[in-house]
Amino acid sequence: MNYQNIVYHSQNGITRITINRATKLNALNKATIQELSEAFKTANADNNTKVIIITGSGEKAFVAGADISEFANFDVSQGQHLAAQGQELLFNLVENLSTPVIAAVNGFALGGGLELAMACHFRVASTTAKMGLPEVSLGVIPGYGGTQRLPQLIGKGRAMEMIMTAGMIDANQALSYGLVNHIKAQDELLEFCEGLAGKIMRNSSVAIGSAIQAINASFKDGVNGYNTEIQAFGNCFGTQDFKEGTTAFLEKRKANFPGK
Ligand code: COA
Repeated sequence: MNYQNIVYHSQNGITRITINRATKLNALNKATIQELSEAFKTANADNNTKVIIITGSGEKAFVAGADISEFANFDVSQGQHLAAQGQELLFNLVENLSTPVIAAVNGFALGGGLELAMACHFRVASTTAKMGLPEVSLGVIPGYGGTQRLPQLIGKGRAMEMIMTAGMIDANQALSYGLVNHIKAQDELLEFCEGLAGKIMRNSSVAIGSAIQAINASFKDGVNGYNTEIQAFGNCFGTQDFKEGTTAFLEKRKANFPGK
């Protein structure tokens, strides 16, 4: 696909998706959400992509939110449609991908930007990153999963405070909250994320996909995560990766996983 709002780059098992609207602080307009959805699906279907890293272009922002200019005149049903469509197209899609997704939060991650980072499997921030859900300052609430994923990640009380105050937290606070896993200087952020991707890639991609599914099951209504785990654990025994992993261990050599 020919992308207008993102840059898609695959190399050595890593697909990097860069949101490329720096003059609008990478705000998520409809076209960008559509392109991101396509890009994530493409990367997930590509056997050569073992890890996806998402980041923002420029030095200022990861994503400064949903594009406010696009929804300022919406009515109730358009508002509901915006949230439902966005959640399905992008945020739930990312969360449930079998390929690991790392958010490299290189600056402002506000509103839909933080919601996108939270839909990723984990986050690494630059020292310059600032995160928040400022929607109530606009008279609206987070609509791309923010009211659900923020409390899951940092606890209900902290999420309540962040959402009610509409304030921003810096990288250190995000680290202490467990919202991000690491903080790196901006010019080292991507290299660090690629290093993590390298460690992930040594392991069975099939097992990793199953682990993501089992972990996510714990947060899904009406799903028993322990049962999902039992099922997924059992399924691993039928994979070539399992045969290779256990054989390599017993033969005292490094595993070379086929990814099947
Ligand atoms: N939607 C649409 N446009 C946005 C945007 C958003 N969420 N965030 C930033 N922009 C645009 C600005 O309108 C501006 O465009 P212009 O140059 O055509 O006027 C450009 O990006 C640069 O932003 P600006 O506000 O001038 O930068 P700043 O450094 O003064 O402030 C922020 C940075 C992030 C504090 C500020 O842009 C902001 O508060 N953005 C909105 C954050 C938000 O509420 N997000 C949640 C949306 S639900």
